[in-house]
Amino acid sequence: MDTSYLQQIKQRYGIVGNAEGLNRALDIAVQVAPTDLTVLIVGESGVGKEVLPRIIHDRSSRKHNKYFAINCGSIPEGTIDSELFGHAKGAFTGAIGEREGYFGAANGGTLFLDEVGELPMATQARLLRVLETGEYIRVGESDVKMTNVRIVAATNVNMQKAIREGRFREDLYYRLNAIPISLPPLRERGRDIEMLFRKFAYEITEKYRMEEVHLTPDARDLLLKYKWPGNIRQLRNLTEQICVISREREITADTLRLYGVTDDSVGGGLVSAAMGSSSETHSYENDRKQILQLITSLGKELKELKDYVYGSQQIHPSLPTNTDFIQHINADGTIQHINMPSAYTKGNMEAAPIQEFVEQQAVPVQDDEQSLSIRDMERSNIEKALRKSHGNRKKAAQELGISDRTLYRKIKSFGIDA
Ligand SMILES: Nc1ncnc2c1ncn2[C@@H]1O[C@H](COP(=O)(O)OP(=O)(O)O)[C@@H](O)[C@H]1O
Ligand SMILES: [Mg+2]
Repeated sequence: MDTSYLQQIKQRYGIVGNAEGLNRALDIAVQVAPTDLTVLIVGESGVGKEVLPRIIHDRSSRKHNKYFAINCGSIPEGTIDSELFGHAKGAFTGAIGEREGYFGAANGGTLFLDEVGELPMATQARLLRVLETGEYIRVGESDVKMTNVRIVAATNVNMQKAIREGRFREDLYYRLNAIPISLPPLRERGRDIEMLFRKFAYEITEKYRMEEVHLTPDARDLLLKYKWPGNIRQLRNLTEQICVISREREITADTLRLYGVTDDSVGGGLVSAAMGSSSETHSYENDRKQILQLITSLGKELKELKDYVYGSQQIHPSLPTNTDFIQHINADGTIQHINMPSAYTKGNMEAAPIQEFVEQQAVPVQDDEQSLSIRDMERSNIEKALRKSHGNRKKAAQELGISDRTLYRKIKSFGIDA
């Protein structure tokens, strides 16, 4: 791919990185910009979705008309129809004047519907109609109005799953997804991570006339290994914190660890390998230390979650009280409870190899009503907190009274789209 024109775009919009997935996303955005096709941008939170609709608008024939970015997840359900489609005077209590709505105001221009997966079902029906026919009706009116708006939507939600669960209309999804663009998570962008660190560090140290910071080789390695659940947004915040707070300007891996950059693969390979559910073959001896640390922290976090969800109640009656356990979902969806004597979760296991231990201790339990409802409760509490914080995991974790890491692990384990 000739990337020289991409470099110009990156410069203009302050985009840093050369990862293949980023270049591909930008390239598709450029190709599709002059058309009126609807675009759906998909990617985890913090991967940089918001710049793409702007690029698409600026490179389209609509560029002299209006561009609005609307966060569908932050508008209350009761007012979203009126915000998007407008309302007549007196359409509902409090509707003193009339309102044009974004679809009217953006006529001839572009609307960016961010977090489109959060749209209520009723609004989805209105959106489908305007996408298909250009027609819409303001709240409290019966006249049909026409508009010519190009839609770019974005989501961090797994839309297929939202469709399966009845939260998103399949027909609307296919209509929105005319041109899909996917942005890769930061952990898959390799050397871009360091470039981004340098960019953010440069910006902040310049702005406040601070001494420059530099990364040591071990710090660079750690940045590459870390999973970055909050992606580029998280990296930016972390870099800013370090630049402002750290007295040491030579940033080592240990300094990064102080700011929460961990070595372990959060919720990933090591745990599943230890539990024999991964096809990856790990050298157990090399990983042993890390696995032990992981089990220790898992035990603590499970306890935390258990306390939060059930108070002092015991989770599963068949488990003795002096036992912590790990609930493991097998590949086929059945649930396995693995007993962990407290000694193990306190980190003083010296002898038995983990794999052997897990195999001996694994107690398959029926995926019965009780364990289902327990999982449902946990899941629904987490989803509620995430909704309340509009996907802000830090706030959601605070709300739940658990650590960010516990929340992240739970989100992964439940397959929640956050
Ligand atoms: N490739 C990139 N280069 C520079 N900054 C980026 C890049 N990608 C994202 N950012 C910055 O990261 C932050 C999060 O991006 P945003 O578009 O809001 O993410 P999303 O909408 O996917 O959650 C923003 O401050 C954005 O400017
Ligand atoms: Mg966003």
